[in-house]
Amino acid sequence: MTTVVIRRPDDWHVHLRDGPMLAHVLDFTARQFARAIVMPNLDPPVVTTADAESYRQRILAGLRPDRRFTPLMTAYLTDGTDPRDLAAGFERRVFTAAKLYPAHATTNSAKGVSDVRRIYPVLAEMERVGMPLLVHGEVTDPSVDIFDREAVFLERVLAPVIRDFPGLKVVCEHITTEDAVAFVLGHGDRVAATITPHHLQFSRNAIFQGGIRPHFYCLPILKREKHRLALRRAATSGNPKFFLGTDTAPHAVHTKENACGCAGIFNAPVALEAYLTVFDEEGALDRFAGFASEHGARFHGLPLNDGTVTLVREPLPVPDRLESQGVAVVPYQAGTTLPWRMVTS
Ligand code: NCD
Ligand code: ZN
Repeated sequence: MTTVVIRRPDDWHVHLRDGPMLAHVLDFTARQFARAIVMPNLDPPVVTTADAESYRQRILAGLRPDRRFTPLMTAYLTDGTDPRDLAAGFERRVFTAAKLYPAHATTNSAKGVSDVRRIYPVLAEMERVGMPLLVHGEVTDPSVDIFDREAVFLERVLAPVIRDFPGLKVVCEHITTEDAVAFVLGHGDRVAATITPHHLQFSRNAIFQGGIRPHFYCLPILKREKHRLALRRAATSGNPKFFLGTDTAPHAVHTKENACGCAGIFNAPVALEAYLTVFDEEGALDRFAGFASEHGARFHGLPLNDGTVTLVREPLPVPDRLESQGVAVVPYQAGTTLPWRMVTS
């Protein structure tokens, strides 16, 4: 097959940032996706309904006029989140979901949740109104090895939450291990997961290939090869519990090429092409549309998009650097050539 046409897809996990970085990166997502779940880890974070309404306006104001793109807003849960404001924001369709960052787990998570039991009243309200919980699933206990933090989180933190809130919808975001795949498969339909392109294409060896490579550093960190293979099987299985979420996370180049570099991989410029490469290699082109354009919308109870995007089997050279608005970012797969290319319709 040399051409793949799918219903316009959605990205269920995106960092669009704010200010000049928002202006620089927004169109990379808007040109490929009809909707995207927008992460709330700004500084300061998007906590209240009013915060989300104003952030949404800034995103909409930055869109090219010819784009049909809908940002789906999320709330950043803190120890002090007001359950009534959160539920009201969801019922007014300002919020699509709420995000649990364990405090200090990742970029801009310092104001996250210090102990999940502190937000039990919030989770009860979310369960009541049907608001999905999006989870950054890593423990922050420094005594736990960084490569084990996801598996330990699932067992110590998420399993009790799922047990205590039997109606709560949960998305395990950017899963990275065979343990997470098994965890998601072992729970009912209300538990799902997103998978990134980089966790499908690279193992942790990529971070150390001939020297230290900061552009492969993200959280949760890349894992062993056996985990990558388990993720590829899950993503391409056709199971509706698994769907597309890039976790595109741009950082200015000097903040990544640094003695203490930021975590995050900027994959928005080549997101669909990278995923399609994986489905092609796995002989699963017929399952790509489900993963990219159907499973996530069905999980969230949203309509499928109209229109299509087309990808063709043609080389796509990826630039070393993308620069505008005074911001320079190194894209995922910089300097390589991908075998598929999205063609603008
Ligand atoms: C994200 C970021 O930069 O905001 N970084 C990352 O490595 N994925 C935060 C996150 O999703 O963990
Ligand atoms: Zn993220």
